Amino acid sequence: MKVLVGVTGCIAAYKACEIVRALQKAGAEVEVVMTKAATSFVGPQTFAALTGHPVGLSLFDDTTDPIPHIRLAEGCDAFLIAPCTANVAAKLAMGIADDLLTSTALACTAPLMIAPAMNVHMYENAATQANLATLRARGVHVLDPAYGRLACGDVGAGKLPEPADIARAVLDLLHSADAGALAGRRVLITSGPTVEPIDPVRFVSNRSSGKMGSALAEAALAAGAQVTVVSGPVSVCYPDAASVIFVDTACQMLDAAQRCAPDADIIICAAAVADHRPANPAAHKLKKDDDDAALASIAMVGNPDILRSIAEGKRADQVVVGFAAETDEVLANAQAKLHRKGADMIVANEVGAELGFGTDDDKAAFIMRESVEELPLMAKRQLAERIIERTCNLLSEIS
Ligand code: C5P
Repeated sequence: MKVLVGVTGCIAAYKACEIVRALQKAGAEVEVVMTKAATSFVGPQTFAALTGHPVGLSLFDDTTDPIPHIRLAEGCDAFLIAPCTANVAAKLAMGIADDLLTSTALACTAPLMIAPAMNVHMYENAATQANLATLRARGVHVLDPAYGRLACGDVGAGKLPEPADIARAVLDLLHSADAGALAGRRVLITSGPTVEPIDPVRFVSNRSSGKMGSALAEAALAAGAQVTVVSGPVSVCYPDAASVIFVDTACQMLDAAQRCAPDADIIICAAAVADHRPANPAAHKLKKDDDDAALASIAMVGNPDILRSIAEGKRADQVVVGFAAETDEVLANAQAKLHRKGADMIVANEVGAELGFGTDDDKAAFIMRESVEELPLMAKRQLAERIIERTCNLLSEIS
């Protein structure tokens, strides 16, 4: 297994040496490509000595290899860019290929993972966030930066994660791509609750934990898929190798899901989307006494149905799966939902005192157009594997 490591011009570039080492310890062969700015932080000779390969620096320097970006792009099983500056993330999002590293990224069909690292304000800048969202939507694995004291003295998000953690994420990605049933396939999962603001501090939401979405992401990665999760606020951790887009409201979730859906082979709507939202969220915090009337009666409007609109717009080569949490008449209600929403399969699960939201176990049934399969009580992770397995079968029936 061969990993191409791209190093860009960030103070954390020195940590790429440790990433290279950790990948090598795990048995990977590593080659390094650097931007010009990166060479101001670490000398290419360091990486050449660590990897035993010359370091890629320019599109034109190597007279023996007139198209080095294609050789590098085709010769790797995964391309990791760590640290990835805001500048390089912006170029990747736009498809700019003005040096060896960015040209290689554009030509590379192997999984791409980036570890953005920069000043907190650069990271939080709307332009950077939009670029990272674009990359995630295209299936690039974007690792979240760590929070802490940054080189410039600011405190916030923007630190490069620990080299060992980055190396582990790359290895997970490589192993998941190891010819599983979903190798080369893309899975999109909606997960967690949505939160609908009443005012800047209050909201309407539900108790969804995101555990099912996270278990599905793990199972899909284990089957070799590239996974994107569109998630409401949760405390559960999604696997590092999944690209995660966090949203708050149902409208934002719909927007993100619709952007990602065309690239996905399988779309699983596991989110507990709030059915209604406050019609007129207040711009200021509603106050006791002054705003009693507004607090006593909050007008609500219906939220978009994400599963339904994704199913309506789906292509014949895509599989769409939804969930139905029911307290009674589980199978009949789920069957009605399958038809109403236009999904290929509904995972019906019984919710009640000890089942459903926030629990580790679930009792479910798969409702398909022609058949129903009832499953025994099992761990959510195990159920996720069964769902992925069943969805793979549906996919192979149509492709
Ligand atoms: O209509 P109901 O909420 O019972 O349907 C549940 C299924 O529909 C789940 O798969 C859930 O993710 C999805 N859903 C959705 N958007 C909504 C409501 C539900 O995607 N607004």
